[in-house]
Amino acid sequence: MTDNFDVKLVENAKYYTPDAEYKRTSWIGDYQKTYEKFLSDPDAFWSKIARELEWIRPWDQIREWKYPYARWFLNAQLNITANCLDRHVAGDRRNKVALIWRGEDGKERVYSYQRLLGEVMRFANGLKSLGVKKGDCVCIYMPMVPEQLIAMLACARIGAVHSVVFAGFGTTALNMRINDAEAKVIITADISIRRGKAIPLITIVKEAIDNAPSVEHIVMYRRRKEPPVELRPGREHDFYGLMEGVPADCPAEVMDAEDPLFILYTSGSTGTPKGVVHTCGGYMVGTYYTTKTVFDLKERDIYWCTADPGWITGHSYIVYGPLAVGATVFITEITPDYPDPGSWWKLIEEQQISVFYTAPTAIRTFMKLGEEWPDRYNIGSLRIIGSVGEPLNPEAFEWYYRVIGKSRCPIVDTWWQTETGMQIITTMVGEPMRPGFAGKAIPGVEVDVVNKDGKPVPPGSGGFLVIKKPWPSMLRMVYKNDERYRTYWETIKGCYTAGDLAVKGKDGYIMVIGRADDIIIVSGHNIGTAEVESALVSHHAVAEAAVIGKPDAIKGNAIKAFVILRLGNKASEKLTQDLMYHVRITIGPIAVPHEIEYVDKLPKTRSGKIMRRVLKAKELGMDPGDISTLDE
Ligand code: PRX
Repeated sequence: MTDNFDVKLVENAKYYTPDAEYKRTSWIGDYQKTYEKFLSDPDAFWSKIARELEWIRPWDQIREWKYPYARWFLNAQLNITANCLDRHVAGDRRNKVALIWRGEDGKERVYSYQRLLGEVMRFANGLKSLGVKKGDCVCIYMPMVPEQLIAMLACARIGAVHSVVFAGFGTTALNMRINDAEAKVIITADISIRRGKAIPLITIVKEAIDNAPSVEHIVMYRRRKEPPVELRPGREHDFYGLMEGVPADCPAEVMDAEDPLFILYTSGSTGTPKGVVHTCGGYMVGTYYTTKTVFDLKERDIYWCTADPGWITGHSYIVYGPLAVGATVFITEITPDYPDPGSWWKLIEEQQISVFYTAPTAIRTFMKLGEEWPDRYNIGSLRIIGSVGEPLNPEAFEWYYRVIGKSRCPIVDTWWQTETGMQIITTMVGEPMRPGFAGKAIPGVEVDVVNKDGKPVPPGSGGFLVIKKPWPSMLRMVYKNDERYRTYWETIKGCYTAGDLAVKGKDGYIMVIGRADDIIIVSGHNIGTAEVESALVSHHAVAEAAVIGKPDAIKGNAIKAFVILRLGNKASEKLTQDLMYHVRITIGPIAVPHEIEYVDKLPKTRSGKIMRRVLKAKELGMDPGDISTLDE
């Protein structure tokens, strides 16, 4: 596992100390002191943060912990949109820019808090006119346009549970998610636009709902002007048409702190993704607090997180966290390489972005393209730069720090998960940073690196990353699957097992190395090996498949598939292309194997389980470890 880890190298990693001014002006203040304050009275710590927000009814108790189930802010009532929108409109931010969107064609759309609230309320009333009520599930399958955020917020306004599906997912993946959550309505767009090309989302939606009996209505944001996509009366509705003739005002639904806010599917070690459920109260407090302190957001900041709301990063750090704080959020559909590799730096210059949050895979791609691209633009407005999704390797850290951060901006490498809802580990702004290390637990949470019995490993060694106590924005359940929920808390008794391997430095800094299970992180996205394998075996030519992750300089990991063909099929370049295409339309482009090798046999245990570990070791020329269970 971490046997080949060079502990000396870890301990020798040097620190980068940011300018003292950062610490002096940071919301968190002195990290150590704040952390100790949290430890001395965790309830008081969270209660103080929660009181910065607006509640319809205050809580009777901060938390209840009945292992492995937690509830937070008991009996409190709130609506998250009242905090993300109304609170600012009633206060000083009525005319502040909430959202700036930039399209590939240069078109810009700007929403003040007042305007965004108006749009959200009208669309919420539109959803109500379709019969959507509190507790109903609405699936959102949209490109990155303001309407995507409006749809999410409108659901939250009326207490409908949204399930956002990343628009890069294919038919089968979308169908499975719609059916599992029993979505009543699906909100989509006719097309998404990527690198100058229109991708017809509606075709995928139509195929995906073929076998989805719960879906009653489709709402479509129509971007294509000529000819406009036709709608089937009664069942298919125009996004803006739905907002016509409805009242302008839509009071926020009263939600219990523990009512579900959304479901978001994430890959697991089986073929079916897990519906991670987050609730209104704890999620709001956790994302509000971390957005404010980890990015140290100030009133004047212009904040850009390059994720898509189809992932948890977008939910927490494009939509709910930043809006709860009252920030100005920039979003765009523009990819980092279109029309040229300078596109993002140009946007930073034009928009005067001050806080920038992206992924290691993007940083490594930019490294490869060379410094001349960022150097063409004045990106001096940047103040804080962040990273998320996979380990930020020291080389990428140093490049990001020097070339983008101009050896001045603190880097917040944030470790967290769909399940945690909020950031858990980072190096808080102002604290010394160590390349390769995400940092320490954010005040409010307790983490450790332990062995399989749950015993903390000595400093300087590796083990499993765990969270020791419940936190406000933790997942409350895996939708309709309690056993999968319990596994998080029962794998290592008493604590939450994240499924990641990590090393604890002597100074307590944590280096996250990668997954300990059958999940591959490709360009920061979770891909379950079982999901790709089942997509492959759903192809008529495939009898069996095994999938592994191989280290990749840009993507972190690349997918390699080993395939056994059914009798009568022959390996060929054409078949490889067919299989890749098959995975693309079934799951989506992110899950397409980089390489497919045809084999006659796969290493299995005597009980018939594929030993991916053995395949991987062979592929990488490493020792496969214990192979006593291998079936000869
Ligand atoms: O393996 C860790 C990796 O991403 C996983 C969580 O993926 P997901 O639920 O899709 O959420 C991604 C965005 C929060 C983790 O188990 N990961 C995430 N951030 C980091 C990371 N690995 C190392 N360093 C990080 N900063």
